[in-house]
Amino acid sequence: LLGLSSASDLTFPPGFKFGAATAAYQVEGAWNVSDKGESIWDHYSHGPRSMILNHDTGDVACDSYNNWERDIEMAAELGLHYYRFSISWPRLLPKGFDYKISEDGKAYYNKLIDGLLQKGIEPMITLYHFDLPQSLQDLGGWTNPLIADWFADYARVVFSLFGDRVKMWLTINEPIVICDMTYKAGYNPPAIYSPYFGAYLCNKYILMAHAKAWRVYDEEFKAKYHGKVSLAQHLLWIEPATDSDKDLADIAMQASAGRYSHPIFSEEGGWPPALEKAVEELSKKRGLLKSVLPPFTQEEIELVKGTHDFYGFNLYTSRLIKAKTEDTVDRWPQTDAADLGAVLLEANEWGKSSVNWLSVHPEAIRRQLNWLKKNYGDLEYVITENGMATSSGLQDEDRVNYYKKYLAQVLLAIKEDVINVTHYTAWSLMDNFEWMYGYSVRFGLYEVDYSDPQRKRTPRQSAKYYANVIKSNSFDVPSE
Ligand code: NOJ
Repeated sequence: LLGLSSASDLTFPPGFKFGAATAAYQVEGAWNVSDKGESIWDHYSHGPRSMILNHDTGDVACDSYNNWERDIEMAAELGLHYYRFSISWPRLLPKGFDYKISEDGKAYYNKLIDGLLQKGIEPMITLYHFDLPQSLQDLGGWTNPLIADWFADYARVVFSLFGDRVKMWLTINEPIVICDMTYKAGYNPPAIYSPYFGAYLCNKYILMAHAKAWRVYDEEFKAKYHGKVSLAQHLLWIEPATDSDKDLADIAMQASAGRYSHPIFSEEGGWPPALEKAVEELSKKRGLLKSVLPPFTQEEIELVKGTHDFYGFNLYTSRLIKAKTEDTVDRWPQTDAADLGAVLLEANEWGKSSVNWLSVHPEAIRRQLNWLKKNYGDLEYVITENGMATSSGLQDEDRVNYYKKYLAQVLLAIKEDVINVTHYTAWSLMDNFEWMYGYSVRFGLYEVDYSDPQRKRTPRQSAKYYANVIKSNSFDVPSE
């Protein structure tokens, strides 16, 4: 099996950790309890411009605000080593700024953290998973340079409230999705279409925000709490469609993964040179007088460089890239690939899921890990999300097969390629609000019944499989 020689080769290294994830807006609901502030998703989903499927909102979602005990119980049933969840910035800081902390918000996260720890489950916390306080959006959000300081102030509050018990931190989830979906595609809230400028400003200030928050932890908390801080990148593994597309694939990887990784994880810091060159050319082509990529000063390069304790990433799927010819249909026209004069495709043999962007290509995760090691060295790699979309139903063989195949590739990366992967996180613990897709697609190990006011959760076949994976430390286990 897998070309690995002995049975012990089929198990993950001792101490390897398995977890599952959710995010505040996707599960909590209780959007306006007590003094909670409005987030950009509250604002957008309630407004006339909402393009969310079926006009769904996260107002109730899985009601985890009230069902937190059940959530902990599910994490315990699975035998999770850790549970990754996010803090809602406007729930904790109703005004966005740090001068007012919500007692109610604080109490909610304290209950969740303490309840997990009582069951021996470590909390892994994301500070920002897409739900910006609307008050800060009104001041420009991620395109305002000052957000780096606002975010660092928020981070300081979180670290000081929960840092005694939480040892694994992610500052920002999926920067590329935040900037590109909002400004380049123009549809995620605040849905500001500004592909020339907005997206690039966001690119820079999100990196500055991460870096400042990391430094807050490093300088003020690390010595007493000994935790680790990084961010969760969104990685889409890109391969050349033909031999002549190899350079294109290299540039596309630098423009996507590299854009948010090179400034933090490379030795020299700053933007990847290939990205600088590509944006320079693109800006010229668009008739702009200078590159739209905001430069970093030397001081900023130093500030951002090295702000990590591990490399965290979400990976689901991959694409092929090919130079655009007249007859190619571009399914993803609002991407970096289009800017490079290329199109993204999927191979026919890759399996399908129930969302259009997610096809099943398990080798992608191993190849991606090798790319990371080659570009950024022998770091600790933490898989912060991986998972599969299906329709409803408890018999989710497709999800079981997805996990089995991706986990096998992770194991090969560890054993054959000697890459230090230490954590694997399934997305998601339960079905939840899938952003622009609303409740129409399901990612959960547990199914959530949205017609039930209690939002009853029921384990799927994949939950049984994953519990067996954790128990036996191997992917090659039954789902009964
Ligand atoms: C990544 C995001 O972090 C998460 O919020 C989302 O639900 C999953 N991918 C699935 O699309």
